Amino acid sequence: MAELYSVPKLEDYSPAAMDAAVRDLLNALEQEAAKLSGENDWKAFRDRWMSRKSGVLMQITEWLKLAPKEQKRDVGQRVNEVKAKIEAAVDAAEARVNSQASSARLVSERVDVSLPGNRRPLGVKHPVLRVQDEIVAVFKAMGYSIGEGPEVESDYYNFESLNFPPNHPARDTQDTLFIAGQEKKQQRDRLLMRTHTSPVQIRTMEKQRPPVRIVIPGKVHRNDALDATHSPVFHQVEGLCVDTNITFSDLKGTLDHAFKSLFGSSVKTRFYPSFFPFTEPSADMQVSCIFCGGKGCRTCKFSGWIELLGCGMVDPNVFEFVKGNGYDPAKVSGFAFGMGVERIAILKYGVDEIAKFYLGDVRFLEQFA
Ligand code: DAH
Repeated sequence: MAELYSVPKLEDYSPAAMDAAVRDLLNALEQEAAKLSGENDWKAFRDRWMSRKSGVLMQITEWLKLAPKEQKRDVGQRVNEVKAKIEAAVDAAEARVNSQASSARLVSERVDVSLPGNRRPLGVKHPVLRVQDEIVAVFKAMGYSIGEGPEVESDYYNFESLNFPPNHPARDTQDTLFIAGQEKKQQRDRLLMRTHTSPVQIRTMEKQRPPVRIVIPGKVHRNDALDATHSPVFHQVEGLCVDTNITFSDLKGTLDHAFKSLFGSSVKTRFYPSFFPFTEPSADMQVSCIFCGGKGCRTCKFSGWIELLGCGMVDPNVFEFVKGNGYDPAKVSGFAFGMGVERIAILKYGVDEIAKFYLGDVRFLEQFA
């Protein structure tokens, strides 16, 4: 690398010698300016030529100081000219460096307006929630309101007030998950994960005098192993209607209408005797198979019917627990029902495994978008 220009000490201040000295200096200025690239280079260049402490410009004022008296005027003029040239060169270099930088940026940051934009797909309702909302909407249209209750429930609401006597075998059919460490509590106060949405029937009747027409969607928990159709956590929609003169035909008419709305007007419903502690009489409701229209296929096990929910007339023993709030079993009557949301979603969409609803696999879920 060529050595950098440095300001010589002058011995000869004659105009010819000054011409030569100024020419050397301006040549060096021009050459250094031409090599600059980038802001850092430019800053070093500016400091080297103009810094107040030791810049070239500072050093050539020595020329003026040391010049013999009779040359001072001439030398002074030349120093002023050089000063103007250095300043102009530094300014011009700055402008050049800046415009190089911005054109470099233009090349690297050019926007291609023909590229597709960033897609941010919108989320949609999960299929289980969607079916749950559809069920609720059907009852809402019939004048039902919507209720909810806690998932951690007491034995009293989940069992006792629903007419499950203590130690009754019907409790075992619900495979309950209890909260640990409650041995000291009385049985009725022990906490558990609610096994069904039915406890919200009692909670509703404690708060609201008759008449009541309510649907209760929500999550329930059972100590069940996961298989194609069972999951330890699933969803139910509960229904309760209490008024004067409510009969079993009201129950049948309401559920028949609801399932025609959900599955199409050609489905039929039928009611089979069953048992639940909180209804008397109790029934299982079946719909005509939505896959074969009732002719018989693998899904309906060639029976033509599919069991969908439990229901019945509210047992007078249940009303006894809320009698003080206007539910005198001699004066009011009612029906109740409870259905599994996943079970209905599985049928509606032909899903083969309940677990697919919970795995969060977008390839499965986006089919419902
Ligand atoms: N709670 C019941 C279950 O989880 C379902 C049920 C049956 C709810 C009959 C009701 C009913 O309200 O009347 O198996």
